[in-house]
Amino acid sequence: MTQLELETKTLATDHCSLITRPRRLRQTEALRSMMRETELNSRDFIYPLFVRHGKGRSEIRSMPGVFQLSVDEAVRAAEAAFGQGIPSVILFGIPAAKDPLGSENFAEDGIVQQAIRAIKHEIPEIVVVTDVCLCEYTDHGHCGILNVQDGAKPRPSKSLPEGYVMNDPTLAILGRVAISHAECGADIVAPSGMMDGMVSAIRAALDGNGFENTPILSYAVKYASSFYGPFREAAEGAPKFGDRKSHQMDPANVREALREAALDVDEGADMLMVKPALAYLDVIHAVKEAFPELPLAAYNVSGEYAMIKAAAANGWIDEAKVTLETLTGMKRAGADLIITYHALDAARWLAG
Ligand code: PBG
Repeated sequence: MTQLELETKTLATDHCSLITRPRRLRQTEALRSMMRETELNSRDFIYPLFVRHGKGRSEIRSMPGVFQLSVDEAVRAAEAAFGQGIPSVILFGIPAAKDPLGSENFAEDGIVQQAIRAIKHEIPEIVVVTDVCLCEYTDHGHCGILNVQDGAKPRPSKSLPEGYVMNDPTLAILGRVAISHAECGADIVAPSGMMDGMVSAIRAALDGNGFENTPILSYAVKYASSFYGPFREAAEGAPKFGDRKSHQMDPANVREALREAALDVDEGADMLMVKPALAYLDVIHAVKEAFPELPLAAYNVSGEYAMIKAAAANGWIDEAKVTLETLTGMKRAGADLIITYHALDAARWLAG
């Protein structure tokens, strides 16, 4: 007997008294798939689409595989997603013109309004979610009405910095936007501006106009994250000055996330969202534990997508495997639904 054989034999004898062997259930793929606790499915995905005026499509530099789409291209993208078993799209609009109020946001022939009608016309069964916020529509790029416009004098509260997003005047606009989307056939409205009282304001606006059956998916827990960089290029919605820290949350906080979620539940949110996802899996878990009865969405944001794409393009990671592992992690953490730019690819990988 060689030295190695001898040692192996001794070690084997030493360990044969083990009773608990988790590896027994990991021996074969058949066993592994039987024991799997979390299953990712194309039905979990909501696919984001950026819609703009004009013809054709143009790729977003920092988001390979993601495009600004004309209305007809958006319909085609929605059809492709639906064909892959993805039940839903979320729409973001790039308006023809921007102004301090973001008027195209609630215009009858606004870009998102056109896209909702076209998509619902071609694919009536698809669930169209719309993002309800001002930042893509305002000329200053902020998520609401500012206390100082074009050098005008600051409004009453002197304690607030110039360029502060005024909460309550913004609520009135969000209500108009939600009604406008619902009128075009949107199935779910998703306010993303982190204004206080946005869910109750939108609920009241919808109910007052006969849309009491339109659900609200609240971006209840949205952080002031640097992971939104590529999206701001895609949606042309970067703030012209300052940041969004006076309304979006501090990445260091989780107790505050539960408070935000609780308020939105009280205000009538039908579904909750945590955003971003990857650096906030603990937050997803905490919100799911606190509100198990509400469907929870996680937003796998643009920066998270860009990181995987960049590493994959360099040959440093396996794009399909890393993407599916990432999305599975979000679901395991507690997300029921995932808004993801990977949706189309992920659905294909899952199918084949
Ligand atoms: C606001 C909105 C943003 C995103 C979704 N909705 C941008 C922001 O809050 O600055 C970011 C999504 C992403 O990064 O993929 N309308």
